Amino acid sequence: MARLVRHDRSRPFLIQVEGQTIAICGCGLSQKLPYCDGTHKITRDEEAGKLFVYDKQRQRISVQLRDEQDNPISVEPEYPAE
Ligand code: FES
Repeated sequence: MARLVRHDRSRPFLIQVEGQTIAICGCGLSQKLPYCDGTHKITRDEEAGKLFVYDKQRQRISVQLRDEQDNPISVEPEYPAE
């Protein structure tokens, strides 16, 4: 079984625990989940409105979604870019 999970965020969530800052992965690509390992940097040049898929080696595959009439579908970000 395969599953796609959407992640719009391109940076970690920073939380404070006992005076230390901990980076929690927000991009979904870290190989040390739940912690950020810096892999999110490969998402920085993703174009808005497009869908990107990454394989286990974090190689990017660009995917164009289309509706029933074969029109391209834009993927709106859930979170505004900062
Ligand atoms: S936010 Fe996912 S690796 Fe940094």
